[in-house]
Amino acid sequence: MKIPIIDLVRQHKPIQNELEIAFKRVLESGQFILGPELEQFERNASEFLRSKYAVGVGNGTDAITLALKAVDLQSGDEVITTPFTFFATAETIAMIGAKPVFVDVEDSTLNIDVNKIEGKITPKTRVILPVHIFGQGAKMEGILDIARRHSLRVIEDTAQGFGAKRNGKFLGTFGDLGTFSFFPTKNLSCLGDGGLITTQDELLFDRVRKLRVHGSPRKYYHEFLGYNSRLDTLQAAFLSVKLNYIEAWNQRRREIAEIYDRELKEFVRVPEVDAGNEHIYHQYTIRTDRRDELNEFLNKKGIMTQVHYPIPLHLQPALAYLGYKKGDFPVAERAAREVLSLPIFPELTELEIEYIVSSVKEFFRG
Ligand SMILES: Cc1ncc(COP(=O)(O)O)c(C=O)c1O
Repeated sequence: MKIPIIDLVRQHKPIQNELEIAFKRVLESGQFILGPELEQFERNASEFLRSKYAVGVGNGTDAITLALKAVDLQSGDEVITTPFTFFATAETIAMIGAKPVFVDVEDSTLNIDVNKIEGKITPKTRVILPVHIFGQGAKMEGILDIARRHSLRVIEDTAQGFGAKRNGKFLGTFGDLGTFSFFPTKNLSCLGDGGLITTQDELLFDRVRKLRVHGSPRKYYHEFLGYNSRLDTLQAAFLSVKLNYIEAWNQRRREIAEIYDRELKEFVRVPEVDAGNEHIYHQYTIRTDRRDELNEFLNKKGIMTQVHYPIPLHLQPALAYLGYKKGDFPVAERAAREVLSLPIFPELTELEIEYIVSSVKEFFRG
C-alpha cells in the first residue's frame, strides 16, 4: 500500500464539476485581479468565521507581513512569538527589520507558553504573535490579557487553523488581526498560493486593503508604501466552492484523529487537546523518542510522513544573528526531536487508516 501525506486529486475529484464551473465563470468574466468574485469570497469567509472583515491576500506569509505593517511595526520593534512553527512566522518579522523574540512552547500542545510571555516584554515590544500550531488554538484569553495590560497588539497566525475554535469562537478572530494560508497542503486550500487576513477593526481593515495594492485607496494615488499581494480572483472562486465543504472535511479529520488517539495512545504520545479547543487536526502529530526509526519504518511500508518541524526557528541559520543557542528553548527543541505527523486528510479510507495504525503497532511490538 502507498499512502501519501495528502492527496488533493482525491479531494478535488468529487467537486471537479463545481471547480470547473467556477473556472469558466472567471474566465468568461475577463476579470482576474480583485472584483466581485473576490469580494464574494471575502464575504463568505467573514460570514463563516463570524469575523467583521476578511481581506484576501497573496499567501499566508504576506498575510503576516501585511498584518504587521497594518499595526505599523517598525524596524527595531520586538515581536514575541514561538520558535516552534513554520519559518514564515519569524521571517516576516525579521524582513521588516523588527526582532523576533522567542518564547518557549508548552509541552502539552506545543503552542506558545503564556506563562513565559511577560518575562520577555521590553519597552520595544509591540506585538504578540501566537501560532495555532497544527490547528489547535493557543491560550488566547491569557495572551489577550497580557496584551491589554501592556498595550500590545495581537496577531494570530492561523495558517493551520481554518475553522478551528476556542471556547466556541473561531481562531483568527480573537486578536487585532488573524492571518490564514490557503497553500495546497492546508486544510482549506486553493489551487496555488492564497491567504486571508481577518480583523474586527475598521481602521485595520482599511489599512490592509490598501497595503495589498501598493498603499493605494484609488488608482495612481498612494497614501503609503505597500505591496502587490492580492488573492487571485480565480483562487477566490475556487475557495468559495471549497468553503462549502470545510466543515465536513474538518469533522472527518476529527474522526480520523479519534481513531488514531484510541489505537495509538499506548505506543506514542498522541496530541493533547486543551480544554475549550475544537482542534481541526491540520496535522496529526505524534511524539516518540524513537521518531527517526519509526519514520523510516513507516516510509518503508509505503506510508508518507512528515516532521513538523525538525529545527526550531531559534536554531535556523538564517536567524543566527539573533544570538540564540541550543538549550534556550528546551521544550521546543525536544519536540523537534520527537514529532512525527501521520497522514490525515478527509479522503483517507478506513483501509488506509487501519494500515497506518497496524504499521505503528507493528513497529512498537516488533
Ligand atoms: C504556521 C504557518 N505560518 C505561515 C505560513 C505561510 O503560509 P504560505 O505558505 O501561504 O505563505 C504557513 C504555511 O506555509 C504556516 O504553516
